Amino acid sequence: MENLLTIKNMNVTYVNKVRRVMAVRDVSFSIDKGDSLGLVGESGSGKSTLATALLRLHPHSTEITGEAIFEGQDLLSIPESEMNKLRWVKIAVVFQKAMNALSPVHRISTQFEDIYRVHYPNATSEEIRERAMELLKLVNLPERVYRLYPHEMSGGMIQRMAIAISLMHHPQLLIFDEATTALDVVTQGQILKEIVEMEETLETTRIMITHDMSVVATTCNKVAVMYAGELVEFGMVKDVLTKPNHPYTMGLQRSFPSLKGENTKLESIPGFLPDLSKELPGCVFAPRCPYATDRCRKEKPPMMDVGNGLAACWRCEER
Ligand SMILES: Nc1ncnc2c1ncn2[C@@H]1O[C@H](COP(=O)(O)OP(=O)(O)OP(=O)(O)O)[C@@H](O)[C@H]1O
Ligand SMILES: [Mg+2]
Repeated sequence: MENLLTIKNMNVTYVNKVRRVMAVRDVSFSIDKGDSLGLVGESGSGKSTLATALLRLHPHSTEITGEAIFEGQDLLSIPESEMNKLRWVKIAVVFQKAMNALSPVHRISTQFEDIYRVHYPNATSEEIRERAMELLKLVNLPERVYRLYPHEMSGGMIQRMAIAISLMHHPQLLIFDEATTALDVVTQGQILKEIVEMEETLETTRIMITHDMSVVATTCNKVAVMYAGELVEFGMVKDVLTKPNHPYTMGLQRSFPSLKGENTKLESIPGFLPDLSKELPGCVFAPRCPYATDRCRKEKPPMMDVGNGLAACWRCEER
């Protein structure tokens, strides 16, 4: 498999007058062309921060270190002009509140044309309309919405429109940050099915940030688990979701309904995320981990090879 993105020792720190929030901490992983990576972890674990920083859409005062090599270029350090060339063409992102991505005062058709012409300045309205119709079909929207203004559309329609726009230039890397969460289950299922099929033909790579493990199970081949800004487990979906190695992933797995549909009781993980403005010595999950030992509280476990993936837990060393 050909490598597409390699993240090395990435740190993202939000800085304001009173605090420094270390929202992404020393994260490293890599994905190949054609992969679809589920990025999971409870609210506040740094998933959106990672995605936002990769596209350099973070607030100005944010400090970022490390590397994110995409096709030989470091996304974290290339000039803004280079980043602008990649955004929407090679890397596209859809956030949960896609509403903000569309202009309220222009018809959808105008917005399609504007975005299309950023990279193909000479494209005719007819050409663009043709591409738009393909994309509207893909996200299950009727052709008539092309003439509408965003305020004439429902939230779900706008969300689907944002997904359609993200696919406009056949990006190599597609990042969905809870992009389909607000859609009804049937629509979400249909769109994801279309996208997975499209990815197979075009070799698109997708990073899917979601709280829905069934979406990871059905549309991703790899999964990365984040906790308190750190990557704690990484591997193939078929291994990680059935035999997790990190106690946090085990907890996550138990807190979702069984994917096989059996009736099991949902458990939540007791406790809270730690304060991300502090240095966190030892294992980040130790305060909530049922297996934590003295060593876990003092010494940070590195990501260790567990045969079928990586996990940052001292218990994996024993094997
Ligand atoms: N602009 C910001 N300034 C300061 N802190 C921030 C900012 N944005 C996010 N944070 C903090 O960074 C941490 C990670 O937030 P992030 O949004 O990346 O989490 P997440 O994993 O995407 O959560 P969710 O699942 O709820 O979307 C949180 O503690 C959050 O409060
Ligand atoms: Mg988020």
